[in-house]
Amino acid sequence: MNPGDNAIALIGFMGTGKSAVGRELSRRIGWPRYDTDEMIRKRFGISIPDIFARHGESAFRDAETTLLKTLHGGIAGIVVTGGGIILRAENVQLLRGMGRIVWLDADEEVLWQRVSKHSTRPLLQTPDPRVRFAELLRERLPLYQSAADHRINTTTNSIVQVTDEIIALI
Ligand code: S3P
Repeated sequence: MNPGDNAIALIGFMGTGKSAVGRELSRRIGWPRYDTDEMIRKRFGISIPDIFARHGESAFRDAETTLLKTLHGGIAGIVVTGGGIILRAENVQLLRGMGRIVWLDADEEVLWQRVSKHSTRPLLQTPDPRVRFAELLRERLPLYQSAADHRINTTTNSIVQVTDEIIALI
């Protein structure tokens, strides 16, 4: 994607609905969707928990940056990111160069309800995942805040409503 392209990058914590909204948005406006988790999973040929377990978190983070660099020279579209993409300032710069950054957010308890239904998040494979979840959220909120052009609350809104709000921004 070239600077100034009208790409939309979705950022936000685990459980904010980035993947579902990205799919709905792509379906509605016909833009291609680039889901970084999905693409990294394909590149490694194994699941994200397995990437973390076998290669470590830093290999996953490197793959995120490498992938964003390849998207940077491509076409406009919807970039769906993993919750930790904002951990590297370089990634935020790359996303910025592609277009607008939309932050999906929700109340902590609602996020936890959504995320705890699935046990696949490698960062939550700890003795007390609820505490870790709260720590990660607290650490990352300022990073989402400073990266985002727009913030959309998904606590009570449906995927369709959130998508409507993003379309209104375009
Ligand atoms: C991560 C979130 C995951 C995935 C990986 C790391 C994170 O994506 O990228 O497990 O650091 O928050 P989702 O935000 O889609 O769960």
